[in-house]
Amino acid sequence: MTNQPTPGWALVIHGGCGRMTRAGIDAEHDAGYRAGLAAALTAGRAVLEAGGSAVDAVEAAVRALEDDPRFNAGRGAVFTAEGHNELDAAIMDGATRAAGAVAGVTRTKNPVSLARAVMAHSPHVLLAREGADRFAVEHGVEQIDPGWFRVDERWQALEAMKAAAAAGESVFDKSLKYGTVGAVARDAAGHLAAATSTGGLTGKRWGRIGDSPLIGAGTWADDRAVAISATGSGEDFIRLAAAHEIGARIRMLGERPQDAADIVVQHELKAVDGDGGVIFVGADGSFGWSLNTLGMFRAAVSSTSNPIVAIYDDEG
Ligand code: GLY
Repeated sequence: MTNQPTPGWALVIHGGCGRMTRAGIDAEHDAGYRAGLAAALTAGRAVLEAGGSAVDAVEAAVRALEDDPRFNAGRGAVFTAEGHNELDAAIMDGATRAAGAVAGVTRTKNPVSLARAVMAHSPHVLLAREGADRFAVEHGVEQIDPGWFRVDERWQALEAMKAAAAAGESVFDKSLKYGTVGAVARDAAGHLAAATSTGGLTGKRWGRIGDSPLIGAGTWADDRAVAISATGSGEDFIRLAAAHEIGARIRMLGERPQDAADIVVQHELKAVDGDGGVIFVGADGSFGWSLNTLGMFRAAVSSTSNPIVAIYDDEG
């Protein structure tokens, strides 16, 4: 990552944050996560290297993460209390501040591409549940049997949560791992974009929706300032309008993107007992991340720097 203004294109991705420690992740899983991040980075990088747009790049990177069962988005999403996968996603174009988002979709293979279709082909920003899936069908966005999202490890997590609840233990997984995936990019023309996708929280109920599909909370892009994708305790990011807050600080206070991200994540988010992190690419070409958890699956590359793949907070 670089705190310095940089010309050319840049791409940063994440695969969620939480209590990631070297003691808690064995070598095989560590290597698997890094391979998944590297593959998604390559997918987005190929777009930018070919002169493609930031919007195309973040969609390509997030699609790769949605298809990877190691991450909590698309295939490998966590289960609701009723045993379903309900998926949320958003995408935003910093050049126009056009945005599209979906919440609680159940049959769309790549929710980020559905969010893009909402941005491109509807007069709306956010579509939810059955209506969003119906919009996907009407616009030819690939549908899939919901069983495709199912990964046994996630099912076991739901079973463990139910067992803990039956034993009278706290089941809110705020202290555990927040799975969400996201990407931010600056293309060679200097335009920014952000995209985020998630299955949300294990055991979520009552149609709960987190920050990821809420423009300004978990996803934000504005060519005048920054592109942001967040991961963490979604309710706290919503209450802070965290992604927009970072952009507003840059635009109105003249802060550097890294400083604005650090103030919101390390101080404002912590002040409301929130956990998580963000990735960013600034309008000035600086890029990086800020996190207040022990780790965040993340990776970055730019036209002037080699790829970095990192998990633990002391890396990169
Ligand atoms: N940050 C993802 C969620 O809370 O759903």
